[in-house]
Amino acid sequence: MVGPSRHWSRTLIALGSLLVIFASAAACIPKNRPDASTPASPPPSTPSSNAPSSNAPSSSGFDHSAALALPSLQDTFAPYFSIGAAIEPYQTIQVGDLLQKHFGRLTTENAMKFGPLCPTMRCNFTQADTIANFAREHRMPMTGHALVWHQMVPAWFFRDEKGAASLELLSERLRAHAFQMVERYADVVDNWDVVNEAISDQAGKLYRDGSEGSTWYSAFGDERYVRLAFEYARAAADAHDPSVKLYYNDYNVVKPEKRMKILQMVRELRKAGVRIDGVGLQGHWGVTWPSAADIEAAILELRAENLEVKISELDVSVYGEDDHEKKVWQAAMLDSAELEERLKKRYVEIFEVLKRNKQHLSHVTFWGVSDDHTWLNYWPLRRDNYPLLFDRAHQPKPALRGLLGLD
Ligand code: GLA
Repeated sequence: MVGPSRHWSRTLIALGSLLVIFASAAACIPKNRPDASTPASPPPSTPSSNAPSSNAPSSSGFDHSAALALPSLQDTFAPYFSIGAAIEPYQTIQVGDLLQKHFGRLTTENAMKFGPLCPTMRCNFTQADTIANFAREHRMPMTGHALVWHQMVPAWFFRDEKGAASLELLSERLRAHAFQMVERYADVVDNWDVVNEAISDQAGKLYRDGSEGSTWYSAFGDERYVRLAFEYARAAADAHDPSVKLYYNDYNVVKPEKRMKILQMVRELRKAGVRIDGVGLQGHWGVTWPSAADIEAAILELRAENLEVKISELDVSVYGEDDHEKKVWQAAMLDSAELEERLKKRYVEIFEVLKRNKQHLSHVTFWGVSDDHTWLNYWPLRRDNYPLLFDRAHQPKPALRGLLGLD
C-alpha cells in the first residue's frame, strides 16, 4: 500500500505532468478537426458535493465503494471479449481500484502519442511508462495508441536544419519511432494502432491530405507513410513477438462510404505485400446513432475481408448527430433520469450487437472511465456530457448495471 503522504506527492506529480501533456497536446492540435476529437485531457475534477457521504471516500478522494461492490464488468464479459479503458497516467492512482476491478486491458489516452511523448527529439517516456508499469503490475495487456496520427505530432519530425526534411530522413525517423515504441512496450502491448485516421472525409478522395490537416501526407508527398509505418512496425514486432497485431484505427467506420475507402486502402496495402491485421472502430457513438444494424454490418464486412475487428474508443454521447451538425448543443440537454435511462438502453443495445458478434471481436475499449474525465466535455465545445459507465462522482450508472444484467 502507498502511504498517504507518498500518495499525495505522487498525485501532485501526476497532475503536474498531466498539465504538461495537456499544454503540449493543445499546442499540436490543428484547430478545425471536422469530425472527431480534440485530445484534451482535463485535470481531474473534485468529487461532486452530492456524492453519497455515508461511505468513507477511497484514497483518491472519491467514494468507490458502490462501484467495487458490483460484479466485475470484465468478468461479466469474459466469455465474449475483454473490456479495456483508455486512461491518463494520473488515473492509475485516481481510479486504479476501478481499473483493477472492472477492466481487463488498457490504452494510453495520450501518453504514447508522438507529440506529447517527443515534444523535442529527445523523448520523455515517463507518462507512458507510468501506465505501462501499472498494466504490467496488474497483468493487463495494452493497446499501443498510436504510432502515426495527423494530430499531436511534433513539428521537428518534418524539418531539419535547412527546412523541410528529405524523404530519406522522414522515412528513417519514422522507422526509428516505430522501432523505439514497439520495442519498448513489446512485453505489454499486444496490438498497435499503427495508423490513425489517415482516410479522407471528403467525397472522391481516398487519403486525408494537407487540406484535411495531414502533415504526414504533405511531407511525404503522398500516402506512402502509411505503408512504411506498417512495414516498420511489423519488422519491429517480428523481432520481439510476431503475434503482436497491427491495426488501422478510425472514426465513422460504420458509415459505408468511409468503410469502402478503408477497405480499398487495406486491399492496396495487402496487394503490395504489407501485413495489416485489423481495423479498429473507434466507437465514438451517440444515444441515437449509429443504428445497431450499421454497427453489425461494419463488423461483418470487415471480418469478411479477413480483418480482425476491435472497438477501440467506445463512448456514447448524449447529444445526437444532428446536434453536432446543427450546433444546437445546449438544447439537447436531457433531464437526468431520462438521460440515464436512454444511456442504459443504448449501451445494452450496443453490447447485444457486440455479444452476438463475439467471435468477430478482439476486444472492446472504453475511451475513459468516468464522466469527470472525457474529451466529450471539451469537444466540440465546453459542455457537460455523460458518455461513460461511471458518473462524475465515480458512482456506477444505470448503464453499467444494465450491462451487468442487474436491472
Ligand atoms: C481520436 C483519437 C484518440 C482521441 C480521441 C478523442 O479518436 O484516436 O486518440 O484523441 O480522438 O480525444
